[in-house]
Amino acid sequence: MTTRARPLIAGNWKMNGLTGSLAELDAIIAGSSAVADRADLLICPPATLVAAFAARAKGTAVMIGGQDCHPEPCGAHTGDIAAEMLKDAGASFVIVGHSERRADHHETDELVRQKTLAAWRAGLVAIVCVGETGAERDAGQTLDVVGRQIERSVPDGARTESLVVAYEPVWAIGTGVTPTTSDVEQIHAFICLKLSKKMKNSGESSKILYGGSVKPSNCNELLCISHVNGALVGGASLKSSDFLAIAAAAPK
Ligand code: 13P
Repeated sequence: MTTRARPLIAGNWKMNGLTGSLAELDAIIAGSSAVADRADLLICPPATLVAAFAARAKGTAVMIGGQDCHPEPCGAHTGDIAAEMLKDAGASFVIVGHSERRADHHETDELVRQKTLAAWRAGLVAIVCVGETGAERDAGQTLDVVGRQIERSVPDGARTESLVVAYEPVWAIGTGVTPTTSDVEQIHAFICLKLSKKMKNSGESSKILYGGSVKPSNCNELLCISHVNGALVGGASLKSSDFLAIAAAAPK
């Protein structure tokens, strides 16, 4: 019998949150001990809040991450943030290659791969996001697109402990629509197989999160699917009660 990897419930706050949002983090921290036997908890606030959130969460069960990083450790890159800066601010994870960055900032798989290497250089766990658009799904290209993204965005020789992959179908983000259970199962199994060839210890796989309209009402079904090792939660992570309810639904 294979043991299930401990789930990771990660909140991506995207471009939401001001200093007043520390109260929401406090509520998540306060509720974290009740779900600590079920899942690891991670909040990725906007860059302006990483240091304050990390200071507040220090010594608690809640980890803090960034939402993006530049491939270089420093230099003339106005407005960008290095993985080393996130680490210095107290982050332990960073999301790279989110579909909103791939779309809004024209990020390529090769750039995402470089960002993943930057995360590792700084000692951060990289959460590499992949997922097809609605048009690609309708054209029957999901596995081709996701397979290519994994192939090109995940560096060879990845270690399980420093890589997480998030499967986020673009058409499911913020829409309230989710893929069927059997589609998630099939795609996660496919990602697992692809990843196992990339890993330092081939045959292993990193955690694979599902993301896209995860809510308290659908999370139990999604989190129980095989090869789903947690969730990357957008909108529902902004409300502590919803985020904790999702973590509480993770299978033991
Ligand atoms: P929603 O949960 O709001 O659909 O967002 C998912 C997402 O993009 C997380 O990275």
